Amino acid sequence: MSAAETLDPESWPAARAEAHRMLDDVLDHIAGLRGQPVWQEPPASVRAAFREPLPRAGADLAELRSVFNERIAPYSSGNAHPGFMGWVQGGGALAGVIGEMLAAGLNSNLGGRDHMPLQVEQQVLAWTREMFGFPEDSSGLFVTGTSQANFLAVLVARTRAFGRGVRALGLAGQAAPLTAYASRAAHGCIAKAMDMAGIGSDQLRLVAADEAHRIDLEALKAAIAADRRKGFRPFLIVGNAGTVDVGAIDDLDALADIAGAEELHFHVDGAFGALGVLAPSVAPRLKGLERADSVAFDWHKWGQVPYDAGFLLVRDRGLHLDAFAAEAPYLRRARSGLAGGDFWPCDYGPDLSRGFRALKTWFTLKAYGAEALGGVIERTCALARELQARVASEPELELLAPVPLNIVCFRYRGPDPDRLNGDIVEALHAEGRVAPSLTRIDGQVAIRAAFVNHRTQSCDVEALVSSVLAAGRDLIQRQAA
Ligand SMILES: Cc1ncc(COP(=O)(O)O)c(C=O)c1O
Repeated sequence: MSAAETLDPESWPAARAEAHRMLDDVLDHIAGLRGQPVWQEPPASVRAAFREPLPRAGADLAELRSVFNERIAPYSSGNAHPGFMGWVQGGGALAGVIGEMLAAGLNSNLGGRDHMPLQVEQQVLAWTREMFGFPEDSSGLFVTGTSQANFLAVLVARTRAFGRGVRALGLAGQAAPLTAYASRAAHGCIAKAMDMAGIGSDQLRLVAADEAHRIDLEALKAAIAADRRKGFRPFLIVGNAGTVDVGAIDDLDALADIAGAEELHFHVDGAFGALGVLAPSVAPRLKGLERADSVAFDWHKWGQVPYDAGFLLVRDRGLHLDAFAAEAPYLRRARSGLAGGDFWPCDYGPDLSRGFRALKTWFTLKAYGAEALGGVIERTCALARELQARVASEPELELLAPVPLNIVCFRYRGPDPDRLNGDIVEALHAEGRVAPSLTRIDGQVAIRAAFVNHRTQSCDVEALVSSVLAAGRDLIQRQAA
């Protein structure tokens, strides 16, 4: 068969040279991030270039390179940029980028079978257990992100409540409706997980939180008792290790006690905060995490691994298997050979075909080490405290929430503050120096700056403050004129 009949290059030397140029482009892009805007709006002509009909004939890699460099890279979402502070997103680091490239070259399918990429995933699983103080035989796997990991955890907890048979019977045959509990500060993906699990988002009881945005333990106990009296079947408590809006950490030890006493599954949503175990100043506040029945978190946030790299860790491997393992003749396991192996991730989640997310994570952990990643976590929390102090020192600014971790919610004081602060953030995005996002705290629109990216520095905090002040003054002046 000639090269022309396969999709391999006609000329490997030419393809190699082109690929090397593109690797250089990637390195230039990352090295030059600070000199670029965080975000810029793609012009209409650029958007239009991606509305072409299905290409019937192929194009040169050189042409694709220039399209990527001119029409995609300059208009990406900007989370790798040091000025990006929106939505709790990670910046990624070079070792993971290289790992992702190598993984794509291998093109392994990590659904199962006997090959080294699965040993790499198990290595990361073992490190994860070690980080969180989980037992040796606990199980886990990579998924897209914490939304997916939380969903799988709800399914694990459902199986714990009703046994493996629930997978065939569904919930229709169950006498009592299931109810789950999380604080009202919980991420929306928990309600969505309840919805997707067929339990219903209304069966997630959003329990009151205190001033520090931590779940109110007495209100939780009362909610569980009230549901039991009414004939519901409580099955799950979801604790927060870093709430999405302010980074609050629930009293995980107390939640583990309550879950134990009530015989409920105790899951922790630690999307970004769980990796705080790597930071000496944060780790003590995560006490109780080691007692969770399952933990969801993202390597792609504070772990600095390029997207996507979510993870679910489950204490009870048997329960985890009960929730997902299914036999099929075409997936028969062999005693030896390629169809052997004792870790088939398709037994632990819904995906059969899975990419090699583990490699970029392994590269990141090996290249930088857990201590350096913990150092990034410490530094990003310090940046949040810096911003908190700057907000306090500017009479035009007002802090709207406590700053327990790496997130600061504040606003510019002025008339119609909800609209004004929304307009300020839009102006900042258009300007492209820093990119915070918006949320609501106690009903008020807040500018939310989440420090996650290892590249962010004090000068970016200063740029955020000066940009918010300038935009606020400008908008008020223009309103007056
Ligand atoms: C606390 C929390 N839970 C869940 C999620 C969802 O995670 P992902 O975006 O990886 O699905 C986030 C995202 O920021 C989060 O902060």
